[in-house]
Amino acid sequence: MIRQAIIPLAGLGTRLLPITSVFPKELLPINGKPGIEYIIEECIEAGIKEIIFIISKKKELIKRYFYNDQFYKKIIRKKRDKRILNEYKKIQKYRKMIKFVYQNKPKGTGDAVLKTRNIIKDNFFLMLLPDDLIIQKNCSKDMILLHKKKKCSIMASMLVNKKTVNRWGIYSKKSKINKNNFYIKDVVEKPSIKLAPSNNAVIGRYILPKKIFLKLTKQKKGKSGEIHITDAIRKLINEGELFIAHTFKGKYLDCGTMSGYIKSSLEVSKI
Ligand code: G1P
Repeated sequence: MIRQAIIPLAGLGTRLLPITSVFPKELLPINGKPGIEYIIEECIEAGIKEIIFIISKKKELIKRYFYNDQFYKKIIRKKRDKRILNEYKKIQKYRKMIKFVYQNKPKGTGDAVLKTRNIIKDNFFLMLLPDDLIIQKNCSKDMILLHKKKKCSIMASMLVNKKTVNRWGIYSKKSKINKNNFYIKDVVEKPSIKLAPSNNAVIGRYILPKKIFLKLTKQKKGKSGEIHITDAIRKLINEGELFIAHTFKGKYLDCGTMSGYIKSSLEVSKI
């Protein structure tokens, strides 16, 4: 059973500078609602019971967003506005599910995952990268259903433009399960166009095995001096661990770049 989800939130957000020099990108509104709330809703709908936020001291505003009781109580006493009351209740509901851990140095996604080592209870857990919004269909829910059947690790996948392979984790296929699901042969983080094994990219939804922590404790820095989750996954696959690439059905929105972020609001407003 997949009950816990982790969300790395300690990244610097350099692709969205200058606003991210003072404000966490995950709180930026997408069609009026902080991006992180879409991710939380995806988790809840997928049956997740506990969400672990990996933040940094620089991104404490994210924690404050969920723990601003004094402010709400004062306002509600004064205004008795139903909308504000409902928003407060929603935030209270969310925070009951959220635990916070810290990654104060941005050493990469692999390092962020490692910070949750002592909290993860089951053999598998879900990870969502908040830059990747998937709308119209709950990708996490579909992956959890697939996991129930196959009992192995899964990564969300999408075909990308060949010219952009160096922006993604890229994998090669081993064998077909059905139209949308394949076992993975190998995966490499942000390869050059020349070295990319395909243009099948990994998108930010992962069902990972607890044993990845063992790999991460020994994981050396990879591309751009960061500890990548992809490198640890690669090691597990090479040792025979099964990983499925799941082509998701929803629409992908890249909220991690300015042009993608602007487009996201437009797309979400159409739903
Ligand atoms: C991360 C992963 C990469 C994956 C991507 C999906 O990269 O390292 O393998 O393809 O998310 O969005 P990042 O966006 O942190 O550069």
